[in-house]
Amino acid sequence: MKTEMPTIFSAKRTSFVRTSVIREILKLTVENSDMLSFAGGLPNPHLLPKDILSSVMESVVKDHSATALQYGDSSGYQALRTQIAEKLTDVYWISPDSISVTHGSQQGLDILGKMFMDSDTNVLLEDPVYLGALQAFSPYQPNFFSVPMEPDGPNFYLLEEILSQNKIHIFYANPSYQNPSTYTWSLEKRKRIASILDEKEVILIEDEAYRYLDFDGKVYPSVSSFRKRIDLTFVLGSFSKILSPGFRLGWVVVPEVYRSLFTAIKQGNDLNSNQFSQVVVSKLLERIDWKEHLRSIQTFYSEKQKILVSLLKEYIPEAKFSLPEGGMFLWVEYPKVSQKELMAGCLTNGVAMVPGSEFSPESKFSANFRMNFSFLGKEEMEEGVRRIAKVYRDINT
Ligand SMILES: Cc1ncc(COP(=O)(O)O)c(C=O)c1O
Repeated sequence: MKTEMPTIFSAKRTSFVRTSVIREILKLTVENSDMLSFAGGLPNPHLLPKDILSSVMESVVKDHSATALQYGDSSGYQALRTQIAEKLTDVYWISPDSISVTHGSQQGLDILGKMFMDSDTNVLLEDPVYLGALQAFSPYQPNFFSVPMEPDGPNFYLLEEILSQNKIHIFYANPSYQNPSTYTWSLEKRKRIASILDEKEVILIEDEAYRYLDFDGKVYPSVSSFRKRIDLTFVLGSFSKILSPGFRLGWVVVPEVYRSLFTAIKQGNDLNSNQFSQVVVSKLLERIDWKEHLRSIQTFYSEKQKILVSLLKEYIPEAKFSLPEGGMFLWVEYPKVSQKELMAGCLTNGVAMVPGSEFSPESKFSANFRMNFSFLGKEEMEEGVRRIAKVYRDINT
């Protein structure tokens, strides 16, 4: 979606800025409290242990204010970087020094866009792709290429073809429980693609925002962990889906050769990530049973996914989707309706989903919608699916 442009003056690159239809829908849901939204990617706030959080915050204010209320290291609070390196990454060259703590993984995407992308940079995307990455990269005007996704990862034949016919500089990928499709690269594809990226000297930006959201507690090895060219691979992680997006904290594993550049760009953005949030999250990680916490999130999302699946099967059996292994979305195809008409009818009837065309640089996926199942309660989901079913039937009769 294009942004409304100011009429007086703005930089040329701003004509490439995209707005997020998801944020627009979120605004509608705030304005209209009766709106049932399957649109956001909102983690469920009830999964955070609030009693522990309260006591951690009190102790941070009482005992650690000298650090928590100050500016901090641009690469991040050292204790937190150590915890991320020890608990939350799997690349074999990891050390706390290779971690840069960012304001959400979204800031990592923007910094990497600024660092690598010009109008002659060739950037390969998954198709469909995470909309926020398009927003972060588009102002730098790179040439986008896209590789079609299959439920077990990119179509390998087409990927090889693109890589052999073009000099691709960067591949941005979201291999685990992808947003929006929830497709997850198989182990075999992870290994094969790591190897071909090494051979063709392609920089990988691997977005692992959903890494820990497998319904069965499985954790796939990152594609980066199979790479030999460790100077050409970045891994992005996030606390948004495993603790809370309210902290606005994520991280990037940065290869040694790019570290000082990355830090300098980050300084121009914000000097350092929110120091208070970093100290709180670090102390929280010391206090909670991490494995148990993750397991409770995974079980909760798994249950919610089953609810949405059974409601769709009951009320709209024509809807098509593949069952995800994890994450927080279903990627649903509604056959025989125009996306615009279904979308408009849903919004009028107080229910929201995100149209699939938003997730493609070329506005493909005109029959798909992304439906989030992590946020609404069971009754709300049922009412929401009923409303969608009514609109769908009205259009089809
Ligand atoms: C694939 C993906 N990457 C990155 C982000 C950004 O997350 P955050 O900035 O909250 O870490 C999101 C948010 O939904 C996402 O879905």
